[in-house]
Amino acid sequence: MIGSDIERATNLLRSGEVVALPTETVYGLAAHAHKTEAIEQIFQIKNRPQSNPLILHVAHLSDAKKYAQAWTAKASALAQAFWPGPLTLVLPKSDKVDPVINAGLEQVAIRMPRHNMIRQVISNLGAPIVAPSANLYGQVSPTLAEHVERHLGDKIPYILDGGPCSEGLESTIVAVSESKCTVLRHGSLPVEYIEKVVGPTNTFIEATETPIAPGMVPFHYAPTTPISIIKAADISTIPSTVKGMLISQQPAESGEWGRQEIMSPSDAAKKLYACLHEADNAPVIEHIYFIPFEEAGVGRAINDRMKRAAAKFRN
Ligand code: TXA
Ligand code: MG
Repeated sequence: MIGSDIERATNLLRSGEVVALPTETVYGLAAHAHKTEAIEQIFQIKNRPQSNPLILHVAHLSDAKKYAQAWTAKASALAQAFWPGPLTLVLPKSDKVDPVINAGLEQVAIRMPRHNMIRQVISNLGAPIVAPSANLYGQVSPTLAEHVERHLGDKIPYILDGGPCSEGLESTIVAVSESKCTVLRHGSLPVEYIEKVVGPTNTFIEATETPIAPGMVPFHYAPTTPISIIKAADISTIPSTVKGMLISQQPAESGEWGRQEIMSPSDAAKKLYACLHEADNAPVIEHIYFIPFEEAGVGRAINDRMKRAAAKFRN
């Protein structure tokens, strides 16, 4: 059921239920961070392997410090610059972290979301929340309450509706160490902004094809409509019998399109997942064609998600 009752969502979490909550990035599938059985349910509902750790969502800096074993100068600088907001920090965990949250790893991922509703729920609950994106494992993240309803509506008692997610792509994940920070996932917060605060970063993004370590599995973020990554010059090779959705910064000069989604990178960040959900719901769209954005700013995260999605259809 979809609604906007913050108290109801809080009470359900308090009694050990799993509910969907809005964040500024994507909708999350939330459980109380101290309720092991509720956290285990998240993995079952999403069909997600327990070896893939979850992000702890806090409303106050004091909580972040409680769940991290050491709160370093770099963590402090990043939190001050970007929290609340779409940045997740991976830090050594404290003994307060239930191992089911972080797959028993030595580190825990923590973020302070900006969306008012989830902040209120966490504050009212008096405890952090764990929340992966509220989609089935490997599918496209939801940016509207209706997306959650369509995929998980029969598995959870409540979806708190906070409107369309203002960022539209997941948080950027950074492993913090005193020497150098490492970007583990490109996301809504561009790496360029992070580097202004902590200097040059390393990048260690999970491979699209081969799992490297727990939590580094290949994510596909894929719709059911096939996706191809193309160059503008290749448009003429697309068979005219295929009804395509074109996602690109520039309009196509040729070809017959079922739909063209012409967007700047910042609009694409907000609308990309909604377009993928819509392609799945529009029987007329048979194929999605994507012309990559420049590898800079939020363009990196968009290209990354589309590359992973397209990998599902390549063989
Ligand atoms: O924007 C977001 O981050 C959304 C909203 C709901 O907050 N959440 C989200 O969660 O995207 P999820 O579970 O879909 O993706 C979390 C990613 C996974 O790739 C996971 O492997 C990684 O974070 N992760 C979590 N804990 C980690 C850890 N301790 N070390 C390395 N990676 C970790
Ligand atoms: Mg996810």
